[in-house]
Amino acid sequence: ITLYLPKDAASLALGADRVAGALQRSAQARGLDVTLVRTGSRGMLWLEPMLEVETPEGRIAYGPVRPGDVESLLDAGLVQGGAHRLRIGRPEDQPYFARQQRLTFGRCGVIDPASVEAYRAHGGYRGLEAALKAGPAGTVEAVKASGLRGRGGAGFPTGIKWNTVMLAQAPQKYVVCNADEGDSGTFADRMLMEGDPLTLIEGMTIAAVAVGATRGYIYCRSEYPHAFAALETAIVAAERAGYLGADVMGSGHAFHLEARLGAGAYICGEETSLLESLEGKRGLVRAKPPIPALKGLFGQPTLVNNVLSFAAVPWILEHGGPAYAAYGMGRSLGTLPIQLAGNVKRGGLIETAFGLTLREVIEEFGGGTASGRPLRAVQVGGPLGAYFPESLLDTPLDYEAFAAKKGLLGHGGIVVFDDTVDLARQARFAFEFCAAESCGKCTPCRIGAVRGLETIDKMIAGESPRENLALVTDLCEVMTDGSLCAMGGLTPVPVMSALTHFPEDFSGRGAKLP
Ligand code: NAI
Ligand code: SF4
Repeated sequence: ITLYLPKDAASLALGADRVAGALQRSAQARGLDVTLVRTGSRGMLWLEPMLEVETPEGRIAYGPVRPGDVESLLDAGLVQGGAHRLRIGRPEDQPYFARQQRLTFGRCGVIDPASVEAYRAHGGYRGLEAALKAGPAGTVEAVKASGLRGRGGAGFPTGIKWNTVMLAQAPQKYVVCNADEGDSGTFADRMLMEGDPLTLIEGMTIAAVAVGATRGYIYCRSEYPHAFAALETAIVAAERAGYLGADVMGSGHAFHLEARLGAGAYICGEETSLLESLEGKRGLVRAKPPIPALKGLFGQPTLVNNVLSFAAVPWILEHGGPAYAAYGMGRSLGTLPIQLAGNVKRGGLIETAFGLTLREVIEEFGGGTASGRPLRAVQVGGPLGAYFPESLLDTPLDYEAFAAKKGLLGHGGIVVFDDTVDLARQARFAFEFCAAESCGKCTPCRIGAVRGLETIDKMIAGESPRENLALVTDLCEVMTDGSLCAMGGLTPVPVMSALTHFPEDFSGRGAKLP
């Protein structure tokens, strides 16, 4: 009897290890021969820990399971998929899941993340095989044709970046994965690294062969110990199976991959700062140009992509660029792994083609606010993303549609707030966050964030509201135009969106200083 139980950070936080212990003890006491496979999460977080059992009709899921439920589950015939109040049926039939297009996350929550065998049995390494047949130029062409844009947040065309690195002439080139997922409300990189790290590794290997890099690094944030451990295990497994190392799949291409751990700085998610950190230096932002594609790690041409960009590539190579481009809208093609969080009933990971509206995601997938109170604001794109009011909920998830509303899609994180939110406090938080995380290299950000925080505090206290509003607006303009990187450059986005859409919160009435 094979049972599946997640061991990603969210499920562990919800007691998955205690459920696993209870299952093993109870099964042993009953003389049941049970194999418990630990997987990643399918992303329906309100059902975690979600236990699945292999049956002739496919996997049957139960959730959320607590250790105290194990005995009654076994009594109810869990091993045959028997009836129980926690039985939810086939996970794929859940409306939340059935409406998704899981191209990148297809194996996440399904397989043992450490097993190359399971990975291959579920279609793994077909993309690399196709890439080796297509050759570097053919591979880059497929990525270009897919329309894939950088999933870290900036949305730069991935194929163009790969082409730049492929054409660069240098004795050594590198492939670097940005796994420093620092945005609040985002967790897709983590879920993929914990649940299906081989997809990322395969994507990086395809990239390395395409651009001519022999060394690669995954820069993982220190707050992700489970993801880091999963990466290290998967790298060793891929090496042993001949998918990494001196001769990748007998192709003659060498690719050596290592995972590295950050030290807790948000700014190390900015690519040049990340490269400094990888070189063993303090995470200070470098001026661009030169772009890393031409002069990156140790001064050599370096392909830096986010986890989700690399992880999208195996599917693209296996099925072809146009098949990926058939999903999505406008210039936002393919699928976006959306992370739904905050005050929402059903938070989790939703991978779907671009084009769904925010309302569809929050109401149809999320089921509205968890508190049951009216929704008041939604922040999309992390701490540097805009706060949208209810009236903007019909905006489709599309890079350009968001930019047109002075927002950003970023890494696809959506955080929902009900009517108890105080947007003046949220604007204050944006400056506070920037002041704490600024690398200090340029003046608009280093000093602007501190002055912005003081000025918002004055507004909250009701001091000279008009003058201070003019000051904050002016300061935001300077930060937008004068900052060296997105940290200082985008901090005005949450601030100005809060001021524009929720001016009543800045009147000095009702808002409290922390
Ligand atoms: P960017 O627009 O400066 O660059 C995007 C990428 O394109 C970079 O890798 C850059 O090197 C590359 N690029 C630009 N011109 C190129 C060319 N001509 N040829 C080849 N490559 C080229 O944006 P940046 O600063 O890298 O990212 C900002 C975004 O990061 C924000 O929009 C925000 O959404 C996102 N972000 C994501 C976070 C996360 O946790 N995932 C955290 C913070 C911000
Ligand atoms: Fe550093 Fe801020 Fe300037 Fe970016 S904007 S370089 S984080 S000081």
